[in-house]
Amino acid sequence: VTFDFHDTASDPATVRLFTTRALALRAGEGAEVGPWVDHLLGEIANGAVHGRLARRDGVPVGLVAWAEGGPLGANVHVLYADGHAATVDHYRALMEEAGRQSHGVAFAPGRLGGLKPDEEEALMDGLGFGPYGRSEMRLGRVSTLPAEPANGWGRVRPIVPEDEAELAALHQRAYHGRFDRYLFQEGADEAQDCAREIHQLLHGRWGELDAAGSVVLEADGAIVADVIAVVRPDGVLLADVAVDPKHQGRGLGRRVLSAALRRLAATPDRSVYLNVTEGNDPAVKLYLSLGFVRTLGPSQDWYNRRVIPVAP
Ligand SMILES: CC(C)(COP(=O)(O)OP(=O)(O)OC[C@H]1O[C@@H](n2cnc3c(N)ncnc32)[C@H](O)[C@@H]1OP(=O)(O)O)[C@@H](O)C(=O)NCCC(=O)NCCS
Repeated sequence: VTFDFHDTASDPATVRLFTTRALALRAGEGAEVGPWVDHLLGEIANGAVHGRLARRDGVPVGLVAWAEGGPLGANVHVLYADGHAATVDHYRALMEEAGRQSHGVAFAPGRLGGLKPDEEEALMDGLGFGPYGRSEMRLGRVSTLPAEPANGWGRVRPIVPEDEAELAALHQRAYHGRFDRYLFQEGADEAQDCAREIHQLLHGRWGELDAAGSVVLEADGAIVADVIAVVRPDGVLLADVAVDPKHQGRGLGRRVLSAALRRLAATPDRSVYLNVTEGNDPAVKLYLSLGFVRTLGPSQDWYNRRVIPVAP
């Protein structure tokens, strides 16, 4: 297949049209994608996201847009082939163009319009990609949360600024070797990268820290579990739930999350939600058992098996 690739600035109207169509496919029937489209076009305009428009005989037929994603490679946000050009070969050409321009793709969006699921899977498998999905889960009406045990191990308390370094170390231990670690990786040094993630969570990168929902479980002088909650326009996002691997599977996750939710329930007008990777069964089961329900997703996306050695 022969396409010419062009700068996105050469045809902003088509870039907007293709971006809108691609995000609508990805978000599913009826979803409002306007703000998402505007955000992405803004990122293309300011250079945070790079895009290439494919033309055949001068006619625009496809778009690929990606952000440089740190050491693993690029994160493709838009992968779109239009109309009759929506073929396996064209999608492969778009992926290869993104790979060439970015020194490798780590993540790509799924549900490629015009392809049957088995065609898409064969294409992405051939390119070395495996499937993954993320779901949003929201807390339904809180009925009964387990009470804090009177004489449990350690105690739950609110997060204070001095916890930052210890939270970063706990975060690193809890996510080490897990698929989720790769999703948010920006730097090659794991300790530094975890420190950055925690610093950003505590200092407003994703929304103001929610004092009620952000707690740690401290036992024998160390933080062994945490919940970090931030205020988003659409509710309180539980952005981190983690238990020290040495102590997982003993009820500490249930305990620290219940404590955060009891505290959040004191301000009941806010919706509480989180995002989880399908396949993280301990987490999904814990959330379901506390009254969370899937409200968005699972997404049907792709990760590069060569750079991410662990399945979701
Ligand atoms: C997810 C996590 C917070 C759960 O904490 P935990 O202390 O291990 O979980 P608990 O012991 O409190 O168990 C709570 C429930 O989780 C589920 N669960 C825990 N371990 C499980 C396992 N190995 N397999 C399947 N389900 C499991 C069970 O439903 C359990 O309920 P039960 O006690 O009635 O059986 C913890 O495993 C963790 O830190 N994982 C790594 C980081 C992470 O993935 N965080 C979530 C990101 S969204």
